[in-house]
Amino acid sequence: MVKKILTLAIVLGFVIPIAAAAQKVGGGDIKFTPKNASPVTFSHELHVKGKGIKCTGCHYQIFQMAQGSYKMDMSKITKGDFCGKCHNGQKSFDVKGSENCAKCHK
Ligand code: HEC
Ligand code: HEC
Ligand code: HEC
Repeated sequence: MVKKILTLAIVLGFVIPIAAAAQKVGGGDIKFTPKNASPVTFSHELHVKGKGIKCTGCHYQIFQMAQGSYKMDMSKITKGDFCGKCHNGQKSFDVKGSENCAKCHK
């Protein structure tokens, strides 16, 4: 009996962390909290799984693999850096469109 419980505990101990790791795509959800705008959440799941963009589509040409490696701001993004490399009305919706602000700022 004790042995069974021990085995179960060991099995669960291995399975649960693997399951949790499998749920997180790439760097997971990354939250940016600019001072004078509502927060922006970047979802790896949406971009990687949902839109089929490879890791190398962003790393390391556009972003490092660490949150906060750059000081992003809206004027750089609007000029086509960072998120603006794709969110420019060509590869994806345009950051400059006022109807699109709330797609990122929530
Ligand atoms: C569409 C762009 C994009 C794609 C594709 C992408 N990432 Fe990221 N990744 C980001 C951004 C943006 C950040 C945050 C960078 C920053 O804040 O400076 C990031 C950060 C990370 C981080 C750091 C997370 C942290 O908490 O510091 C890891 C790890 C990571 N990505 C792994 C991956 C892996 C693995 C893949 C492929 C499965 C991938 N990324 C695909 C945009 C992307
Ligand atoms: C593709 C996503 C995206 C869209 C669309 C977007 N933003 Fe942003 N915005 C960001 C990110 C990312 C930051 C930087 C967050 C950080 O690092 O603090 C930011 C920062 C800001 C800031 C903080 C100050 C500054 O200059 O950086 C303001 C204000 C802002 N955005 C306004 C807007 C307005 C207005 C629109 C619509 C015309 C818009 N944003 C559309 C992603 C977006
Ligand atoms: C390599 C290209 C690429 C980069 C870089 C990128 N995105 Fe995206 N993103 C996409 C594509 C493609 C879509 C799908 C939407 C579409 O079809 O217009 C998308 C969708 C989104 C959506 C979903 C909007 C909705 O419809 O609700 C958000 C939010 C978003 N991106 C935020 C960001 C932020 C914030 C950044 C920068 C940190 C970023 N993205 C960088 C390609 C990119």
